[in-house]
This record gives sequence, structure tokens and C-alpha cells, in this order.
Amino acid sequence: MEWPNHGGQPETMRQLFKMEKDREILDFSANINPLGPPSWLKETLRNHYDTITYYPDPTYLSSSVSVANYEGIDAGQVLVTNGGAEAIFLVAKYFEKGKALIVHPTFMEYERACQHYHIDVEDVFYEPKNGFQLPLTSIREKLTKTDVIFLCRPNNPTGTIVKEEDLRLLLEEGEKTGTTIVVDEAFVDFLPSSIPSLVKWLRTYSNLILLRSLTKMYTIPGLRIGYMMANEPIINALKDEQIPWSVNSLAAALVPKLLEDTSFVEKTKGWLKEQSQYVFRSLTDLDFHIYPSSVNFYILQDKKKNTNELFQFLLRHGILTRHTHNFKGLNGEFIRIAIRSKEENEQLISVLKKWRNES
Ligand SMILES: Cc1ncc(COP(=O)(O)O)c(C=O)c1O
Repeated sequence: MEWPNHGGQPETMRQLFKMEKDREILDFSANINPLGPPSWLKETLRNHYDTITYYPDPTYLSSSVSVANYEGIDAGQVLVTNGGAEAIFLVAKYFEKGKALIVHPTFMEYERACQHYHIDVEDVFYEPKNGFQLPLTSIREKLTKTDVIFLCRPNNPTGTIVKEEDLRLLLEEGEKTGTTIVVDEAFVDFLPSSIPSLVKWLRTYSNLILLRSLTKMYTIPGLRIGYMMANEPIINALKDEQIPWSVNSLAAALVPKLLEDTSFVEKTKGWLKEQSQYVFRSLTDLDFHIYPSSVNFYILQDKKKNTNELFQFLLRHGILTRHTHNFKGLNGEFIRIAIRSKEENEQLISVLKKWRNES
């Protein structure tokens, strides 16, 4: 069977599993904030309707300045992109024909982008027995022949977080070996405030590139907004590679407004804390194997029965989760599940109870 590459495709799954057209599907496969978009967004989009009749400012100055102010860096260290996805491909272009390390299981677009730009990729794997910690020794051994390392923090799909001290060590050694560390922080906004972004390190390490997405937190994957942060020479080089006007004018106009809405982010963190406590407690009571995640998704394995069968059981009961067949190192042995609204999470737990009772 040809599994879809990404989550959030209920219609494709409906067809793949030959489900009736009117069968309702709750989508736990996409890791998007269920609280969004923010309530003011529709009206603001309407108010900015006229901007679509003009080309956007090709330098995206106003959005870059708002990102810089929000992050406490210079506008020259920011590049606004058409979602985190464009940022990933731009970074790969920067290392065209070079050598990369990708730490798996992780978001598959790093690999696709590297293939696209003829980058020679070596795979390394997080250590599941150690809660998906970084395979530090094996990475350090490879540094001298590595131009770039792709890391996702918090990591998709595991929801785990590479330790700061491990990263610091890699950045310091990477400065000597000419290795850049790309850290995709697409889900960083979901973390508790006690685990901050690495943005403060941009001042210290010129070999650090950070990637961000606004589509997850604000529930706007269709609008496409992200940005990257790095030292000015890297940002300038990447600007030259970016397709002109790649961020549309509505998306660009929204950047300052989204970043100003810190109360929406706080509300999201409150929901996440409450709901993840409920979900993780219930799953542990039901004897499922889960890894501690600090973000809005987690991976789960059934210790007692085949997880693939569980995936299909959930789907038959109208719950779509994310298969892991195309995550290297997971190979379909887990499913990734999003944390959704209270009602949806309760529905998930009740179907999982049914699965347990029928097992
Ligand atoms: C880790 C990670 N980075 C980047 C992206 C791309 O996000 P977007 O292009 O919507 O900003 C995704 C999307 O799923 C992701 O999971």
C-alpha cells in the first residue's frame, strides 16, 4: 500500500481504506493547534483584502522587523519564508552538493530537500532506549566530514527535545570543523516557557540556523508563513536564492499581528498542559507505551498487540492517527497522535478503552 507522506489527509485515507463518504473522521494525524486560528484572524484577512491587488514588498521589511523585535535579534538575521517548508529547501540549497547528517526518526522533508540539492546524506538515529537522546558519540565522529546537521527540536514525530548541553557541544565542535547545525523549531511555541528557543545562541554561534513555522501554532497551514534566523551573511545568501514574492501579501501582513497575539499562545499552552496530563494519564492507565512529549503530539505503541492493527481499528472508529511507515527508525511500529480538544481526546480514549476490552 502507498502510505501518504504527511498527516492531515483524511480524504486520502478515506479512499485508501475504502470508507463510506459520509463517515465522520476525527483528524488526530495533523499536529495543528485545535484552538486556532485566533478569532480576530478572519476579520483581519478581510481588512487586508486589498493587499492582494499589489505585489508584496519583495524585502518583506515590515514582517522581518516585527520578527526581529519579537525575537530580540536584528532584522538582517531574519528571512520570512513561505512556511517552514520553504525554509528547509532554502537551507538545503545553501549546502548544495555538500554532506549532511540527518538524525532520525524525524520530519522527512529534510531528506527530500537534501536529495533535491544533491546533498550526500548520512543517517544517524536517536536512541529510543534512552528516550530518543542524541547519538552524540557517533555524530561527533562524523563532524569533520559533515557540512550540515539537520535536527528538529522539539522533534517531529517523537515530541522529544535534544538536551541544550548536547547541542552546545555540537555547535562548539562544529565551529572548528566547519559544520553548521540547522535546528527546526517549528513546534517550539508549544513548549512550556521553561524550555526556551535557541534564539539566544545566535549571538554566540555563527554556525547555527533556526527554522520556524507559524502554521502550527496559529492553525494556518493554508496561508503558509514561516521564517528563518541565522547570521547576516547566511541570510543574505539565502535571500538571493528565494523565489521573488514567495510569501503572499496577506501572509506577510499577518506576521506582526500574529506575533503580537501572545495571549493566544498562552491560552494554547494552558490547554496543552491540561489536556496532555489527561491524555498521558489515561494512556498509561491503559498500558500503552508512550514517550514523554512536551508538545501537541506524541508517539504511541501498543505493548500487547500490533500497532498497525490498532491504527486500522481507530480508523474504523472514525479516528485518524498518523502512521509512521515513512519515518526512518520507527518503520510503522508506532502511531503519532495529536492532542486535540477535550471532547476529541475523550473520544479517542474511549475508543482505545474499547480496543483494550476487545483485546
Ligand atoms: C518539523 C516540521 N518542520 C516544518 C514543517 C513545515 O511547516 P510549514 O511549512 O507549514 O510551516 C513541518 C510540517 O509538518 C514540520 O513538521
